[in-house]
This record gives sequence, structure tokens and C-alpha cells, in this order.
Amino acid sequence: MGEVKKHDTPKVDQLKTGPWPSFVDDIYSYGEKHKKQACFDIMGQMELSYTNRETHWKHGGIVGVFGYGGGVIGRYSDQQEKFPAIWAFHTIRVHHTAGKWYHTSALKKLCDMWDSRGSGIVNFHGSTGDIILLGTVTDQLEPIFFDLTHQLHWDLGGSGSNLRSPACCVGKSRCEWALIDVQELDYELTMAFQDELHRPAFPYKFKFKFSGCPLDCVAAVARADMSFIGTWRDEIRIDQEAVRAYVRGELKPNAGAFSDRDWGPFDIKKEVIDLCPTKCMYWDENEQKLYINNSECNRCMHCIAVMPEALRPGQDTGIAILIGAKAPILEGAQLSTLIVPFMKVEPPYDELKDFIYKAWDYWMENGKNRERIGELIQRIGLNKFITEVMGLTPIPQHVRVPRDNPYIFWKEEEVEGGWTRDVAEFRKRHPA
Ligand code: HEM
Ligand code: HEM
Ligand code: SF4
Ligand code: SF4
Repeated sequence: MGEVKKHDTPKVDQLKTGPWPSFVDDIYSYGEKHKKQACFDIMGQMELSYTNRETHWKHGGIVGVFGYGGGVIGRYSDQQEKFPAIWAFHTIRVHHTAGKWYHTSALKKLCDMWDSRGSGIVNFHGSTGDIILLGTVTDQLEPIFFDLTHQLHWDLGGSGSNLRSPACCVGKSRCEWALIDVQELDYELTMAFQDELHRPAFPYKFKFKFSGCPLDCVAAVARADMSFIGTWRDEIRIDQEAVRAYVRGELKPNAGAFSDRDWGPFDIKKEVIDLCPTKCMYWDENEQKLYINNSECNRCMHCIAVMPEALRPGQDTGIAILIGAKAPILEGAQLSTLIVPFMKVEPPYDELKDFIYKAWDYWMENGKNRERIGELIQRIGLNKFITEVMGLTPIPQHVRVPRDNPYIFWKEEEVEGGWTRDVAEFRKRHPA
């Protein structure tokens, strides 16, 4: 490989200082080691952007691999003469593993491939979950895809108006709170909906995320059009002796998460009982016994998180399904709203797949161009979505509070006499 051309990057170089791992250091040292011009050109263009305070990527870019309609985000520099190695700097989304567990042998193979076919720069991981290979040219896309599929047995992730790459928390692989096997669920649904992921057929993007419990470590409620959250419907399991060990100060609250400051000795009343959002807990000081009124518990996880060795979620577990989260554009940010409070999930997840298809069928037909499902629900109304689209019965858990305006629609068949009225009839009783 020939010599590389280095650019003067004083502003960017300042980011080599300080204790946090420096992306500038990383890119430069990798670029030096591998004599990668793209690494120097990207830093050069970044310097220019820092100076001008604006991006130097051209608008858009449509590239990809045959057979698929998404997975690659095309990008071109608007300073191609200055930075020829990044004239094209496409991003490839590679589908990550559920829970993001890797074996070094797989990562090494991926790195070997990317060293030779790309910039060497990656993002572990994109916010949706994918492994992001940052920067290559159009001619390399098919060879990369060939290597990924034939050598690594990895597929691309999603992009465009389709099902994006689903993601989950680590779940049962290393969390005692996981109420469902989110990794299996994530994997099974990803495989089941490969077509929807690779070939955009939707009005807009659609995301799945799976969290094993309401702590929602993958932020499903905020970042997925369909959010699957593990939950339970029986009783919280209490180990009274362990509760007493917390009270005696023998076990650290929150597994020691707050040990870096002196919060005083653990006070079960202050830190658990009084913070329970439904006030359904009682600590009997004389008996030294904890009581939970489970019918009032909303499964917020607080008490369990504070005393993980004493309290465990129930064993009758399933998922809650919430729909509609999205970022602000166009109609304002939304968190997902509860649609199914509890569903048992077991392979092959047929009930769940039916549920998903029901939502998709309607949204695919009725969603406007670039309308997220959350906006469709806003437009047609939650009631219509729950009843007519999903075929469910409205329940109080579907709302936080009942409506406070009286602009209530009735169906004609619900109203005696219907809508067809003759004003002449009215006038007989009420002369003008
Ligand atoms: C005996 C006399 C009246 C009675 C029994 C009466 C009754 C009502 C009722 C039942 C409503 C509907 C409330 C709702 O559904 O939210 C209403 C709304 C209203 N009334 Fe009256 N009203 C009377 C006189 C008046 C007068 C004299 C005015 C104005 C000069 C007036 C102005 C309004 C307005 C502006 C509304 C709100 C309409 C809307 O929400 O779209 N009302 N009235
Ligand atoms: C040319 C005259 C008027 C026009 C074109 C007009 C038009 C409208 C329209 C389009 C609405 C909204 C209806 C809806 O979306 O539900 C409305 C609501 C209303 N109008 Fe008028 N209006 C006129 C005069 C008046 C007058 C003279 C009064 C009272 C003295 C009045 C009081 C109200 C009230 C109280 C509401 C309900 C507001 C609400 O939604 O809470 N309007 N009007
Ligand atoms: S969401 Fe719940 S189950 Fe998943 S990793 Fe977090 S705490 Fe564990
Ligand atoms: S999980 Fe939350 S609502 Fe339920 S008892 Fe514990 S603190 Fe209260």
C-alpha cells in the first residue's frame, strides 16, 4: 500500500485529550497501522465541518445489494477532490445477535473482511441495534454482502420503510429478572419476518424491541413502534429472611448501586414502602415482615430492584404489548401505549405473529405515506385501533385517565333511532 496523505486537523485533534476513549485517537491509530487513506480523509472532512459548522455529506444516496431494498445507507462527500478516499462512504447495517453476544472468532472474521473492503471504522452498535460498518465504496457492497453471507453467515440489517432490525435486552442470558426469553423471541420474530425486513413494503419504518421486564433496558417503550415488555400476573416472591438481612444492613440495597455516596443506613420504609407508586406494601416492624398487596401492585420493579436478593417477580409470566412510540417528526414524540396488558408467549409464537400481522395489515392499507403507526393511531383514534383494527375489547388499562372532553363519537347502531331525522317531524313538536 502506498503512502497516505495526512490532513492538518487542529480542532479534531483537541478531542484526543481528556480521559474518555477518544474516537480521534482510535481512527488515527487504526489509519496509521493499516495505511488507510479513508481514515485520514474522514478526519480531514470532519475538521472542515468543525470549521464551517456544517455537514459535508451530500444529500441522500441510494445504494444496496440485489434482492434487498434496504440495509445500506449511501453517502457521498461534497468535498470529493479534497478527500478522494471518502468520495463514497456508504454505511452497511449488519444484523447484530440478540443480546449482542459475540465470539471473538466471529468478530475477527468480520474485522478481516472490513479491513480489506471498507474504511475499518465501525459503530458497535447503531441505536437500533445493528453492527454498523462505516464507510465503503459502491463497488464493494456486493463483495461485502457475499463475504458476510458466505463466510460469516451474517445477514444485513434493515433500513427504509420496512421492519428494522429488532433488538432486545440481555434477558435470561444474564439477568434474573427476565420474565420471558427475549433473545429467543427477538431471534424467532426476526427470522419469521425476514422478508418484511429486507424488502420495504410498509408506509414507513417499523421497529420491534423486547425487554425482559418493566425496567426496559432496551428502551422498547420509547424506541419501538411495537414494544414487548416482560411482565407477570401472580405474586411477587418474598424471602422474608433476606428482607430482614437488608433491614439489618447485611445486604446492600440496589445491589450496591449507590455505594459511591453515603445515603445512610438502609431504611426499608423510606426507600421501598414509601416509594411504591401504588402504596401497596407494608413493613411490619414488630413482626419484621414485609407484606405486598399484589392485586394493587403495578409491577413497577422498584421494590425488586432495591432488594434483589429478597424479592423476585412472579412466575406466571408473559408480555405486555405497547404500540406507537416514535420521535417528534411529524406529529410529536410518542411513547408506546398499552394495547395488550398480558399475553402468554411460547414458541412458535403464533398468537403473537397473528397480532403483529393484524396491526401491519391495517397500517399497510390505511397508513399514509410516511406515517408511523403511532400517528395512524392518533389519526383514527385509540378506540378504533383497539376495537376495529385489533379486534380487542377496550379495558380501563388502555387509558391513564378517561377523556375530559365531551366530543364523543357514537356508532349509529348504538343510538336509538339512528342519525336519519326529518326536520319536519321536529317542527311538528317545535314550531319555528
Ligand atoms: C337555560 C339556559 C341554558 C341551558 C340549559 C344551557 C345548557 C347548555 C348545555 C347542556 C350545554 C352543553 C354542555 C356540554 O355538553 O359540554 C351548553 C353549552 C353551551 N352553552 Fe348553554 N345553556 C343555556 C344558556 C346559554 C346561553 C344564554 C349561552 C350564551 C349566551 C350559552 C352558551 C353556551 C355555550 C357557548 C356552550 C358550549 C357549546 C360547546 O361546547 O360547543 N348557553 N349549554
Ligand atoms: C360568524 C359567526 C361565527 C362563526 C363562523 C363561528 C364558527 C365556529 C366554529 C367553526 C366553531 C368550532 C366548532 C367545532 O369545531 O366544534 C365554533 C365554536 C364555538 N363558537 Fe362560534 N362562530 C361564530 C359565532 C359565534 C358567537 C357569536 C358565539 C357566542 C356568542 C360563538 C361561540 C362559540 C363557542 C362557545 C364555540 C365552542 C368552542 C369550543 O369548541 O369549546 N360563536 N364557532
Ligand atoms: S429489561 Fe429487565 S430482564 Fe432485561 S436486562 Fe433489563 S432488568 Fe433484565
Ligand atoms: S413492584 Fe412496584 S408497585 Fe409492585 S409492590 Fe413493588 S414497588 Fe410496589
